[in-house]
Amino acid sequence: MSEPRQSVSLTVNEERHDVTVPNRKHLADILREDLGFTGVHVGCEHGVCGACTVRIDGAITRSCLVFGVQADGAEIETIEYLSAQSETRDLVDTFVAENALQCGFCTPGMVISAAALLAETPDPTREEVRAYLSGNYCRCTGYQAIVDAVMMTAAGRRAAKGERA
Ligand code: FES
Ligand code: FES
Repeated sequence: MSEPRQSVSLTVNEERHDVTVPNRKHLADILREDLGFTGVHVGCEHGVCGACTVRIDGAITRSCLVFGVQADGAEIETIEYLSAQSETRDLVDTFVAENALQCGFCTPGMVISAAALLAETPDPTREEVRAYLSGNYCRCTGYQAIVDAVMMTAAGRRAAKGERA
C-alpha cells in the first residue's frame, strides 16, 4: 500500500511552493529533494547534529524533526536566503575570513544558529557562544575558529554602532 500523501503550501525564502508529499516525509528532505534547497544539510535525522537548521516563522528549528505536513502554511528561511541578507552577510564573510569551516557540512546550520545568538545577545562571551552553538556539531574545526568568527562579527557590529569593540 502506498504511503498517504498530502498537499502542503510552504513559503520558502519568500516564494510560495505547493507540493504533495508523503505524510511522514520530514521538512529537511522536502526542502532538499522536492524544492532544491540543498544548503539544508541532513546528518543525523534525529535532532542532534543541527545540520538541518532553518528558520520557521522566525524561530530556528531542526527541519528533520518537522514533518512537511506540520509546516503547512509556514514561512521558512534557509541559508540560501539568509546568507544574502544584511543581518547575516557579515557573519558568513567572517566565517570565510577566519577559516571557520573546513568541509562545510555544519556551516549552514551553524551560521543560522549563530545569527540567532547575535540577535539575542549582541555582546556574548566565548562561553556563551560555545553554549549556544553546542547543538550544532562540527567534526572538522574544533570550534575555535567558529567561536572566533562569531566573536569578531559581534565586535564588528558593535564597532559599526560606535560601541565598545
Ligand atoms: S539532521 Fe536534523 S539535527 Fe541532525
Ligand atoms: S566544517 Fe566540517 S563539520 Fe564543520
